[in-house]
Amino acid sequence: MLSKRLKEIAKLVKRNKVVFDVGSDHALLPCFLVLNDICFKAYAADINEGPLNHGIENIIRYHLEDKVIPILSDGLENAPDDVQVVIISGMGFYTIKHILENADLSKYENIIVQSNTDVDKLRKYISNNNYTIEEEVIIYDDFYYQIISFNTNYHDKYDDLQIEFGPLLLENKDESFINYLIDYKNRLEDINERANREEYKNIINKINKILYN
Ligand SMILES: C[S@@+](CC[C@H](N)C(=O)[O-])C[C@H]1O[C@@H](n2cnc3c(N)ncnc32)[C@H](O)[C@@H]1O
Repeated sequence: MLSKRLKEIAKLVKRNKVVFDVGSDHALLPCFLVLNDICFKAYAADINEGPLNHGIENIIRYHLEDKVIPILSDGLENAPDDVQVVIISGMGFYTIKHILENADLSKYENIIVQSNTDVDKLRKYISNNNYTIEEEVIIYDDFYYQIISFNTNYHDKYDDLQIEFGPLLLENKDESFINYLIDYKNRLEDINERANREEYKNIINKINKILYN
């Protein structure tokens, strides 16, 4: 029912919380969370009627009308007061930034974000606001996706390396992160054979330090 990417996002949702899935589209993630007893109530929100109706079809298909509630909403604008956890996934950084900037994030226990673009900019946004990254995972599902769970508790600004590669990914150095670094480095070396750019060499050096120090 769910892609590997969405299953990994579901793993970061703490049990028995009320979840608001922004840009839910097909509503498969909130349906999965409720069907698997990860949460007892979830909102499937979308800014567009088309995706919202698609979501409603799935909610009806899985008989979850009393547990998964569809809401038409630009970001968190219409989020009810009982929401504890927010998910924003499968969108580009600038859409995610618009959603985060237009909400009072301190109301939520944690916010789970998965940006399809510019993950470093997303971490910079988190760092500039002195938010805390709670969990960070990287998975391969035809593409490398980084999923970040953060809260608004105070944290000192993250340094440049942490913003570029992820503070917890750097700390944990799990297999999937190592594979991502090797893949990234190989691609840069390939391009750099033709381009010979200082900028690429710098990133390759940083990756080598992470891999071999
Ligand atoms: C590519 S889908 C992602 C679906 C799902 N979240 C996922 O990760 O697979 C993006 C969805 O976000 C919705 N969307 C875009 N901007 C939005 C906003 N500002 N507020 C709420 N939903 C938005 C779109 O209508 C679309 O249904």
